[in-house]
Amino acid sequence: MTRKGLKVVTIGGGSSYTPELIEGFIKRHADLPVKELWLVDVPAGERKLQIVGDLAKRMVTEAGVDLDIRLTVDRREALADADFVTTQFRVGQLAARAKDERIPLKYDVIGQETNGPGGLFKGLRTIPVILDIIRDMEELCPDAWLINFTNPAGMVTEAVYRHSNWRKVVGLCNVPIGMQMGVAKQLDVDPSRVHIDFAGLNHMVFGRHVYLDGKDVTKEVIDALTSDKESGITMKNIVDLGWEPSFLKALGMLPCPYHRYYYQTSTMLAEEQTAAAEKGTRAEVVKKLEGELFELYQQPELKEKPEQLEKRGGAYYSEAACRLIDSIYNDRRDIQPVNTMNLGAIDGIPYESAVEVNCVITKEGPKPIVVGELPVAVQGLIQQIKSFERVAAEAAVTGSYETAVLAMTINPLVPSDKVAKQLVDDLLEAHKEYLPQFFGEGVGVE
Ligand code: G6P
Repeated sequence: MTRKGLKVVTIGGGSSYTPELIEGFIKRHADLPVKELWLVDVPAGERKLQIVGDLAKRMVTEAGVDLDIRLTVDRREALADADFVTTQFRVGQLAARAKDERIPLKYDVIGQETNGPGGLFKGLRTIPVILDIIRDMEELCPDAWLINFTNPAGMVTEAVYRHSNWRKVVGLCNVPIGMQMGVAKQLDVDPSRVHIDFAGLNHMVFGRHVYLDGKDVTKEVIDALTSDKESGITMKNIVDLGWEPSFLKALGMLPCPYHRYYYQTSTMLAEEQTAAAEKGTRAEVVKKLEGELFELYQQPELKEKPEQLEKRGGAYYSEAACRLIDSIYNDRRDIQPVNTMNLGAIDGIPYESAVEVNCVITKEGPKPIVVGELPVAVQGLIQQIKSFERVAAEAAVTGSYETAVLAMTINPLVPSDKVAKQLVDDLLEAHKEYLPQFFGEGVGVE
């Protein structure tokens, strides 16, 4: 990093989450001197980009921080000489997410943004765009770090490892930090006193051990989780239906909120179907929330991140992003859970696959901390999801219909090959506009 002050580029900068990120950079400015922050979006998102960009400028001015906010729909202009590139975009915007959530429900299959059929199709739409961004980065900012927030973050990180030569990539998610905050709230202590040993995959991560001031309190946390409804740990986008005590006690680890889709499939499905009929799927609810947020963002007197943003599932996301960038830039060598290449840390997962695991964060990037074998009860599911992610990534780059059907069929949330095929047909048709690789246009396979 040569210049005095960093250049950060955020792709999907018109997202309603951007004020989170701005707040994070403002808070850390003394240690992380971001000089230029380029918010990039596609022409379809230009209005949102303008609104959120204007709010970002007011926030920076109010805080008295020397940070130049630049807005553009020209990604290549923004990427030139960047130090960090963060990605937080959604191909097809919320309307596409709503289809991912609604269509599977017709087949009595979980409809979710990052899991099951929805996760597969979000990956198919997103991976070619990420690989395209990487091609631009190779040319315009070959030394930059790519910090990917775009879902499905695990599958996307896997695709970068398998289908490009780019290695300076970290996949990031707010689930681990959300779990840490949830435990701190349950124990009624400051989050800095809680440490969790995380291992698994994105949206499939387990807290193997939970510590309070160095003391192992895993058992106490699990006991509280199963005995006290108020102690439930979840995110705003996932309903908490409580856990079966005998299951969690035998598991002996902290599941992540997304594990509900795998261990409580029928109850989660019933809940999704009721919600879809009564108030709308999560994307439909979020669309309304977003409308309210953008109304607020337009008010010239608003000069800080509004509280309403906390109704979103992505809470603490800026904390996770900014502390990661800060630790890479300042070579802090602290421990953070991120998605990175396994390098042998978790037994049974390929060496070069992406895993979500605690790492020491250095200026050379994350160094995964050895985990060894995960308990036998969860090994199979994790390997199955990893197989799914790999096959899905292959489908995304090749545009092969059969490979997409294969990925859909091996997903544990999909009941049969016939239903898988129907889901692929239905979702391909629904997302045609964003899946050119399946309709005769290649996306440049490595
Ligand atoms: C969680 C997940 C994110 C996801 C978000 C959705 O925080 O970790 O990956 O993007 O929820 O939240 P939303 O408010 O959009 O439903």
